[in-house]
Amino acid sequence: MAKPFQAIRGMNDILPGESARWQSLETTVREVLAAYGYHEIRLPILEKTELFARSIGEVTDIVEKEMYTFADRNGDSLTLRPEGTAGCARACLEHGLLHHQTQRLWYAGPMFRYEKPQKGRYRQFHQIGVEAYGMAGPDIDAELICLTARLWRRLGLRDVTLQLNSLGSSAARVAYRERLVAYFAARHAELDEDSQRRLHTNPLRILDTKNPAMRAVVAEAPVLLDELDAESQAHFEELRALLDAAGVAYELNPRLVRGLDYYSKTVFEWVTDTLGAQGTICAGGRYDGLIEQLGGQTVAGVGFAMGLERLVAMLAAVSHPGVDSQPHAYLILVGDAAQRRGLVLAERLREQLPTLRLRMHCGGGGFKAQFRRADHSGARFALILGEDEVKTDAVALKPLRDSQGEQITLAQDQIAAHLRAAALAERP
Ligand code: HAM
Repeated sequence: MAKPFQAIRGMNDILPGESARWQSLETTVREVLAAYGYHEIRLPILEKTELFARSIGEVTDIVEKEMYTFADRNGDSLTLRPEGTAGCARACLEHGLLHHQTQRLWYAGPMFRYEKPQKGRYRQFHQIGVEAYGMAGPDIDAELICLTARLWRRLGLRDVTLQLNSLGSSAARVAYRERLVAYFAARHAELDEDSQRRLHTNPLRILDTKNPAMRAVVAEAPVLLDELDAESQAHFEELRALLDAAGVAYELNPRLVRGLDYYSKTVFEWVTDTLGAQGTICAGGRYDGLIEQLGGQTVAGVGFAMGLERLVAMLAAVSHPGVDSQPHAYLILVGDAAQRRGLVLAERLREQLPTLRLRMHCGGGGFKAQFRRADHSGARFALILGEDEVKTDAVALKPLRDSQGEQITLAQDQIAAHLRAAALAERP
């Protein structure tokens, strides 16, 4: 027999046992975003390759080696989105959403990067991203950071730290880049192969190296924060004052440079050491030049994205139960007549109680086997429809979780009221 198919490496199925936690996370994020006045935008998964090259940057890891790029039947080069900022900016420009107005937007969905799969790093992963346009001041940077801090509180995540840096204006970064190249060139022999390659393509990324052998040479490198232009300096100081006032703690990390080229001024990452090597759960920053780079006017932009696989892993560790998807009631149907009547009864109950989670037994079988299923389902009540009940338009109701609870018999038209009072009131 042929070997069964398997998913593509680095691309995961989210199984029924895990999806409750995903849903619960997504619901909480949606609620928090709504509370801050953010609106959802839904974007295609495929974009023209050029969009990512132009926004993320030609010499970034993502564009150089991680994109799923292919020619479609027309010969156009398309790419599975490796992130959402570029597509969101493209959509807003295309639909005129940035003209003399501000926008607070979010999107969710899968992203694709051909990275080496490991715990917390996948080739298909999921982000919820947030982007704010048309607001140039540090107030919106602070709002976004407060939003994330609130989200961690709502989710019960404690072991997270905010790292903060400013990359300055692009002019200041060009000057800094020259100083950095001169510094690293003078210590060329101490650079690893990757850094030697990056020296003339993307020297700022050398600061981000994970190679311990490079620690000394990186530690002594000039620091961008010391050389910020006046405007970026003022922006950063005000942001820090706002965060202090809001009681959001942060660590300054002058080595935080991010792996995408579109950032300027504020950059930040929320990190945890509870997840091993892939500890960044949320990251972002300001990108005031991106819209212009994509052919629009100068429009300020700032945003972040969080990695849902990593957040779900953290939630599992704090044993966040996820959405309650166990049924409230399990309908047991014994005998042919009951099976026929059962469907009608179940449909009527769902009509009367739209939030009732009712599982109807399918597949026949005797009372004992069905009762075992009802018990295993986690339901609070078994509803039992047998031959006698069918004859008298009744149904038996047996509490399953409460050992004191006696089985009672109700008229079928009384069950909805009874369940509303009992099952739905206790477990909405
Ligand atoms: P990013 O830092 O590339 O930024 O990704 C954001 C988050 O997505 C990461 O912090 C991580 O949690 C998650 N993530 C990234 N790659 C993977 C992967 N291979 N497997 C699992 N999770 C991953 C961006 O994507 C920017 N678009 C964020 C942004 C929005 N900046 C401004 N606006």
